[in-house]
Amino acid sequence: MRMYDIILKKRKGIELTKEEIEFFVNGYTNGEIPDYQASALLMAIFFNKMSKEETKNLTMAMVNSGDKIDLSSIKGVKVDKHSTGGVGDKTSICLTPLVASLGVPVAKMSGRGLGHTGGTIDKLESFKGFSVELTEEEFIKNSNEVGVCIVGQSANLVPADKKLYALRDVTATVEDISLIASSIMSKKIASGADAIVLDVKVGEGAFMKTPEQAKELAREMVDIGNSLGRKTIAVISDMDQPLGNAVGNALEVKEAIELLKGNGPKDLLELTLTLGSNMLVCANKASSFEEGKALLEENIKNGKGLEKLKEFVKAQGGDASYIDDLDKFPKAKHIVEVRALEDGVISKIHAEQVGIIAMKIGAGRETKESIIDLAVGIVFNKKRGDKVKKGDVLAYIHSNNENNIEEAKSELLKNVIISDTLGKETPLIYDIVK
Ligand code: URA
Repeated sequence: MRMYDIILKKRKGIELTKEEIEFFVNGYTNGEIPDYQASALLMAIFFNKMSKEETKNLTMAMVNSGDKIDLSSIKGVKVDKHSTGGVGDKTSICLTPLVASLGVPVAKMSGRGLGHTGGTIDKLESFKGFSVELTEEEFIKNSNEVGVCIVGQSANLVPADKKLYALRDVTATVEDISLIASSIMSKKIASGADAIVLDVKVGEGAFMKTPEQAKELAREMVDIGNSLGRKTIAVISDMDQPLGNAVGNALEVKEAIELLKGNGPKDLLELTLTLGSNMLVCANKASSFEEGKALLEENIKNGKGLEKLKEFVKAQGGDASYIDDLDKFPKAKHIVEVRALEDGVISKIHAEQVGIIAMKIGAGRETKESIIDLAVGIVFNKKRGDKVKKGDVLAYIHSNNENNIEEAKSELLKNVIISDTLGKETPLIYDIVK
């Protein structure tokens, strides 16, 4: 078999066989196939697309490129949750203990933030002492004993994706449905859960800009998961404005804790209940979405979700007293108000730009090597649809550097759009794909 022939075949739009896809993935992962040939094939895939069968074979070839996590010694139906990435998305931090408090084990590998999107692993490190690097034995033990464990992705999990993703990033081949679906699903399959609930983000702050594209990606991922024996459901949710009010690591963790105390922002609560009830249905702990939602609401009200969060933080070496005393979280030196310059209604908050502003003041990484400041970020006081008067506080900037505040303030004012009318209303949940 020759890589040249595989590129030519795809360039002509002919379907690749399982063996050809495996030849490419294995050869590229072990360094036998050079970047220039892999780039040519990615571009041919980008233009000529892959069939469902090819996408499934690509996913499995990527799963088989590295370690697979065996979760069989964890009792019960293990359910994983994955978001395609957004701004202010702290859902995993409140959702996973809440679901675990109802007896569904969650053994989850998460990522760090890069660019304008945040990562759960960074956020959890806002708890002093919290460890995201556990051995596989500790990961299994905590998942069994506590019911929830979140760690960083192990080094040899889907090495093919690490190389291919980096190459896609520099060859303008990221936004292809088959390539995104195989990249995400290979990591979910290799992580070993029995069922997967996906949160596919749509809107300006997401990879998928339109509900149609998001639905196509969701359908592809759900079909891959189900065809490989993992029950998979995708929720399509809005990323046209940041989720909740807080953007920035410790600020987002505090908001997730507030949700478990019964004081969560409306959109974060609705998304948590939607994803959570689907996780409960997948794990056979609820027979319907409505029943699942009622169970979750009950465990917010009676404090069991919050108790589970404390157990989870403590089991991973974190200081769980932060949960009762939010003042213990890292705090920024300067908290500056951003006030409306005119009367009107907020018609848009540009999510991606908000993520970039937060990154620039230190909440995110510009490159993999950047060091983040856990204390800083933005907290919104108004969201889309809110009426405002000139002088009302739109948001607070939390910063540790006086010199970046004015620029952040003027950038934020450019990206919170005040109009005469709201315009078209967009829903938080667009669709659920099963
Ligand atoms: N997230 C991934 O893990 N892979 C992609 O291709 C896109 C988003």
